Amino acid sequence: MAVKEQDVELIVRQILDQMSGSTAGAAPAAKASGTGIPSTAHVAMLTELEKFEIKEFPMPEVGDDDILVKVEGCGVCGTDAHEFKRDPFSLIPVALGHEGTGEIVKMGKNVKKDSAGKDLHLGDKVVTCMIFKDNPDITMFDLNKQNVGGADVYGLLPDDDIHLNGWFSDYILVRGGSTVFNVSDLDLDSRILIEPCAVLVHAVERAKTTGILRFNSRVVVQGCGPIGLICIAVLRTMGIENITAVDGNQARLDFALRMGATKTVNFMEHKGIEELTKAVEDSFDGHLADFAFQCTGNPKAHANIYKFIRNGGGLCELGFFINGGDAQINPHFDLCSKEITLVGSWVYTLRDYATTFDFLKRAKGIGLPMADLITDKYPLEEINEALKKNLEMTGLKIAVVNK
Ligand SMILES: NC(=O)c1ccc[n+]([C@@H]2O[C@H](COP(=O)([O-])OP(=O)(O)OC[C@H]3O[C@@H](n4cnc5c(N)ncnc54)[C@H](O)[C@@H]3O)[C@@H](O)[C@H]2O)c1
Ligand SMILES: [Zn+2]
Repeated sequence: MAVKEQDVELIVRQILDQMSGSTAGAAPAAKASGTGIPSTAHVAMLTELEKFEIKEFPMPEVGDDDILVKVEGCGVCGTDAHEFKRDPFSLIPVALGHEGTGEIVKMGKNVKKDSAGKDLHLGDKVVTCMIFKDNPDITMFDLNKQNVGGADVYGLLPDDDIHLNGWFSDYILVRGGSTVFNVSDLDLDSRILIEPCAVLVHAVERAKTTGILRFNSRVVVQGCGPIGLICIAVLRTMGIENITAVDGNQARLDFALRMGATKTVNFMEHKGIEELTKAVEDSFDGHLADFAFQCTGNPKAHANIYKFIRNGGGLCELGFFINGGDAQINPHFDLCSKEITLVGSWVYTLRDYATTFDFLKRAKGIGLPMADLITDKYPLEEINEALKKNLEMTGLKIAVVNK
């Protein structure tokens, strides 16, 4: 069930191969625009393993279909940390950062609408998306089956003579044909959180396909890192109120309550799976869960979670973005005889991305502390520290925010 790490690398490599050539050829121009746009831009370029250098490049010409964006901030993703540490996609030198957002400062004469058909104007705040506009239902899972040439995955593009290819920068050139959304009605923190939140909007959509998740369901969310915490927030905003969070980290469990969990279970306080299952059952006044979301990358946690679910219940496994090893379950006791409906979830579709904008507004509207998920903000010059902080795993969401 888990996707092998090599598979992820192969898929990304295929996309990059298909894209090569699509971005080359545009000549940079060093002249200032005379509209307050500086004549040069700064890009955090990963030049060797664990080393970003801030490089200065001439501001490129903005073609008739292009958009020049002044970057406000960009979240640090596990993929960035992966590249920083190992460069599995052989991209160095590369301008990373795909969870970014900023303001349109210049756009070509043909640019009128975003990928959702919304008007675009100077001063609008935008985001790009890793998933492509050709097919709104495409997910990363489909990429190895379909030809998706022509897509620009900003933050994972090979370097070219434009250089402004990633969001860890002060300017980025969004080229014609790319997926771009006008998100001017979201604040900066919300915009930085769009990408990880889309993962959970997708997971909940997958869960809904089972027909088991309902308003009055008893739901377990196992794992309270950013992914589990956002999962709780998505469930809460859709009106699900009976949520038990499971983790071994008390501070994260306390945060889960602020995000909308009703009860918490600290697995460190319970010996063995039977005692742990009893604690989950007690949290639902003597009932097992109707539905569970598995949000850790720990195979043991995958094996455990079946015990928390009632006969006929459902499970969404989304904790293994990359291969975390094999899990041992008993297919008779855990799956067959309980008639569990299991769905896996990976990344998101373009449609989920757009749904996420509304989720973020609803979350803010009901007072969920989404912004507190961003525990550490670093200026662009301190990007090496930001990546190291991400690898330390002592914060929740780490972001680079321009002054
Ligand atoms: N499906 C997707 O598309 C997708 C996207 C992004 C991330 N992910 C995956 O989601 C997982 C969670 O991401 P994150 O950023 O929140 O990670 P994280 O490491 O910050 O959080 C994981 C949490 O799980 C807890 N945990 C570990 N073992 C546990 C156990 N046995 N029982 C209960 N809790 C346990 C940890 O204490 C931690 O708080 C990762 O493994 C990541 O690969 C999946
Ligand atoms: Zn990401």
